[in-house]
Amino acid sequence: MTKGTILVTGGAGYIGSHVVRQLGELGERVVVLDNLGTGKREAVLHGELIEGNVGDQELVSNIMQSHNIESVIHFAAHTIVPESVTNPLKYYGNNTANTRNLLECCQNNGIKHVIFSSTAAVYGVLEGGVAREDTPTKPINPYGTSKLMSEWMLRDLSAATDLSHVVLRYFNVAGCDPECRIGQNTPNATLLIKVAAEVAVGKREALYIFGTDYDTSDGTGVRDFIHVEDLASAHIKALDYLRAGGQSNTFNCGYGHGYSVREVVNAVEKELGKPINVIEEARRAGDPPCLISNCGAIKETLKWEPQYDDINKIVKTSLDWERKLLEKN
Ligand code: UD1
Repeated sequence: MTKGTILVTGGAGYIGSHVVRQLGELGERVVVLDNLGTGKREAVLHGELIEGNVGDQELVSNIMQSHNIESVIHFAAHTIVPESVTNPLKYYGNNTANTRNLLECCQNNGIKHVIFSSTAAVYGVLEGGVAREDTPTKPINPYGTSKLMSEWMLRDLSAATDLSHVVLRYFNVAGCDPECRIGQNTPNATLLIKVAAEVAVGKREALYIFGTDYDTSDGTGVRDFIHVEDLASAHIKALDYLRAGGQSNTFNCGYGHGYSVREVVNAVEKELGKPINVIEEARRAGDPPCLISNCGAIKETLKWEPQYDDINKIVKTSLDWERKLLEKN
């Protein structure tokens, strides 16, 4: 049976562009819909790019009909947690309301499968620091809530129709593709490994460690860092699973163990061969001490096998990418 075309919303963004590249390598037919608000045209290495908004139902329905879309992988969203706190309606509009419009188009156009980018932010502050998929969801910011509301819409739509879906809850994503063609391009980035890599290549003066008095092994925050290539391959596995008749499901995407901020700094210094400028600061508001996935379900059900579960590899590709960006600009 010929496989249908896949619509990737937000496919010009950081994670979406890696999935599009992997789909291309597998010979899949892909259409990318991206408004290029934060995504980059040159990050789309495969398929056709259509510039537009996910909430534009006329456009989305036209694409679904004219390209015979079978499945949708939905990335398009705003992702900056502090911004979601100061401007919540921006997040409920772009993330939740637009997802509702997209899902209505899916329903009206007979889309079979949806894979949805969710986040560990749906869990809120974790007791014990480790989340399983059935850990109660208690988001502490509008970003997490906006994604959780989309999860609920998908759950209800799949219960009411023939659509099946996979929700992927991402932990802390980092790194770039090993050939350094695409990577994280966000200006004024706040993510730890990106910021540390910028300090390492001289783009920033210093890395501020937000909090050294947490109840963790060395007092700094602990996160489950996942390489973007492994995160991308989880989407491919999810698509295979749904196409093979798998039931709607939710999976954490992480490696099941964490590194502290100081351990990340050590890995950056090791890769660089010299110390970076580090300044200890007070805690950042809203940061939980420890956020680690239980990733047993995705390994067992999707047969997902990570290839980059190594902080040194993650840091190396992040530094390579930052050096490349520096050369380009
Ligand atoms: C990120 C994601 C969030 C997701 C979460 C999952 C974004 C903007 N945030 O948030 O959506 O739900 O992962 O775990 O995509 N830190 C420093 N100095 C810095 C930057 C960070 O010390 O300059 C520390 C933070 O205090 C924290 C850790 O590093 O302890 C990770 O922070 P960060 O990389 O910003 O990611 P999260 O806040 O976990």
